[in-house]
Amino acid sequence: MTAGYWEREGLESAILGALAGAGRDVDALTIDDLAPADHFHGGGKAATDRLARLAGIRPGMRVLDVGGGLGGPARTLAATCGAHVTVVDVTESFVRTGAALTARLGLADRVEHRVGDALELDVPAASFDLVWTQNSGMNIADKERLYRGFARALRPGGVLATQEPMAGPVQPVIFPVMWARDASSSFLRTPAAMRAVMEAAGFRVRAWDDVTAETAGPGTADAIPPYFAPRIIMGDALDPIVRAGHRNREEARIVSIQAILDRL
Ligand SMILES: C[S@@+](CC[C@H](N)C(=O)[O-])C[C@H]1O[C@@H](n2cnc3c(N)ncnc32)[C@H](O)[C@@H]1O
Repeated sequence: MTAGYWEREGLESAILGALAGAGRDVDALTIDDLAPADHFHGGGKAATDRLARLAGIRPGMRVLDVGGGLGGPARTLAATCGAHVTVVDVTESFVRTGAALTARLGLADRVEHRVGDALELDVPAASFDLVWTQNSGMNIADKERLYRGFARALRPGGVLATQEPMAGPVQPVIFPVMWARDASSSFLRTPAAMRAVMEAAGFRVRAWDDVTAETAGPGTADAIPPYFAPRIIMGDALDPIVRAGHRNREEARIVSIQAILDRL
């Protein structure tokens, strides 16, 4: 990833302003009010709910959300499943904004936000029940190291829950995409190659679902309201990204997978 690609100043006020403009009471926000603005992945909160159901998250579970961004998924897992979530993300402004939103929703006792690199997870070995990662590995070339790190963070019998864009059967990818202006910072592999990396890192696949159709966004950016995370974060840069994204899906250049894996 180009250093600072995701960094944005004034994000908290941009989010609150956009939600207020859409008629939300920003002094009494719920998880669902905030969801359009703090889930930054294909399919939004519905995709997070789907993956959470697939993973079977239970109250009290210790969850590590790698690349957790603004924390929408983490707050959802805490508020709706009773999980305790540690969010690690490399983008400082996302971490700051995420912590402020978590405090605003009264979830600071259950969700913690830390700056950190997914390839250098600074957590004790075997300290989590579940590693969660949603649309966060696309800029990371060294997938082998990434998934070895996830396995290290999990207790034996722990679970990996992932949603990830992967390379489709038709290549190349058309740019720009949400996470990269060009191919120099985008590292997608095919589902078969990703599965092999995960298995080599010590995981066994329990569920492997192609969710490309159900997580697809609209074909043009006009349909994305101003209070949605992609619009708030990407601004005018969103329009060519949405056009390219539509082609990437329609032409099978990018697929989206949700998977649950057990750590052996
Ligand atoms: C598309 S956003 C997804 C955010 C969040 N998972 C969600 O679904 O709302 C991608 C996130 O991955 C983070 N990221 C990318 N590379 C990372 C790395 N090496 N270590 C930690 N976070 C990373 C970015 O900072 C960004 O927050």
